[in-house]
Amino acid sequence: MKDLLGLRDMSRTEIEEILDEGLRQYENIINRNFTDELKDRTLVTLFYEPSTRTRASFELAAKNLGARVVSIETSTSSVRKGESLIDTMRTLESMGVDYIAMRHPMTGAAHLAARFTTASIINGGDGINEHPTQALLDMLTMLKEKGRIDGLNVAIVGDILHSRVARSNIFGLTKMGARVRISGPSTMIPSGVEFMNVEVCEMVEDALKDADVIMTLRIQMERQAGGFIPSLSEYTRFYGITEKRVGLARPDAIIMHPGPMNRGVEIDYCLASSDASVIEEQVTMGVALRMAVLKFIRRETDEYPYQKRLCCR
Ligand code: CP
Repeated sequence: MKDLLGLRDMSRTEIEEILDEGLRQYENIINRNFTDELKDRTLVTLFYEPSTRTRASFELAAKNLGARVVSIETSTSSVRKGESLIDTMRTLESMGVDYIAMRHPMTGAAHLAARFTTASIINGGDGINEHPTQALLDMLTMLKEKGRIDGLNVAIVGDILHSRVARSNIFGLTKMGARVRISGPSTMIPSGVEFMNVEVCEMVEDALKDADVIMTLRIQMERQAGGFIPSLSEYTRFYGITEKRVGLARPDAIIMHPGPMNRGVEIDYCLASSDASVIEEQVTMGVALRMAVLKFIRRETDEYPYQKRLCCR
């Protein structure tokens, strides 16, 4: 595997391998036990959309393993002069870059980029398609908190239609044996999602019943593109995660949010910082998981070296 583009195409064995390494890297972070095993590798972060967590944690993960890191601001790069994604890939490859962690507003952008470079593309979010490292870090958090993923009841609540986090989690969690229920405004539930092995619940209360994990998502205002935008107060009334609603879940249920969150909208202000919340732990897990991903890709590419210029010129 040269690239990490999505969880749809990853096997359970590959996911397990990354999660096991993620747990080891979590211990290394806690103990400040960093290495230089990637000192001969270079990571570029290339984000065409805003990010705090994903970009910073890729950069920290690479530095924790001794890699060199270059961060490209697309707003001040030659992208602003009209350089295409493909030419950007070729340019970075010509500098000897090994990994490109990228985020792009267009669905499929990471897949396109991967075809035009021998560097390893790690998808940090492409349109409404996938955000695989977020789902992996979410699963890593569940694994640490619950000791397993297989058999967990996971409720995902919110704007499922526009959420690449939800899609990657659905692919990953169902592969790992979790039972996934989703709930949100009907305009934000993708048609045909029931064929992805999830249960769609009209009432959020039905999704939360006996849940081990509650994952709440923000409304992706930037992706509504002329579609229906609900009033936030109505959204909160019908789908907001409140203490009363959490009471329907298992007593030891954990509350997750990929961030950035809007306290008081999709999640009660205080609940986000309650004992049940693992939202900040998810952020720490994000660094550990991305360390595991960088190591995993290195091992894969060392084992199956890619020839230069796989694709047509
Ligand atoms: N969860 C997530 O992708 O956060 P950022 O947008 O801050 O990277």
